Amino acid sequence: MGNITFTMIKPDAVGSHYIGPILEQINAAGFQIIALKLLKMSKEDAGRFYVVHKDRPFYNELTQYMSSGPIVAAVLQKDQAVTEFRKLIGATDPSKAEPGTIRQRFAKSIAANAIHGSDSDENALIESAFFFSELERF
Ligand code: GTP
Ligand code: MG
Repeated sequence: MGNITFTMIKPDAVGSHYIGPILEQINAAGFQIIALKLLKMSKEDAGRFYVVHKDRPFYNELTQYMSSGPIVAAVLQKDQAVTEFRKLIGATDPSKAEPGTIRQRFAKSIAANAIHGSDSDENALIESAFFFSELERF
């Protein structure tokens, strides 16, 4: 426990051709990519993935947005992966993200904020299992 996190490169960043630079920054920060795929979620898939946010006012906008185009899903490994990765991606609102963070560099807005990172070890495992079967993980 404690050494994996789950990430998605969101539709805005995939559409802007930022898959390469974002994966490069993730690797340069010392994360190992242990599972990786490109896919498009249905609105129902996005609804299940973000079910914890179902009572938030932006739930409909969020699930609409996350199913609007392809995403890259990945499982990453590093010591203290969840905490370290959230430092690397920066604040949810890119206008508040630290310079050099992935969201500060690549995100367009709070909704189209380029990348997802798990918020706990428990959710990292749940989210990884949502996208990857046991055979797709190392
Ligand atoms: P994730 O790594 O994507 O989970 O982001 P986060 O943990 O930094 O933020 P949080 O889990 O609170 O919110 C999930 C996602 O909902 C965010 O990444 C945003 O894409 C979106 N979101 C959060 N707040 C707003 C908002 O006020 N408006 C809209 N449209 N989307 C929001
Ligand atoms: Mg979150």
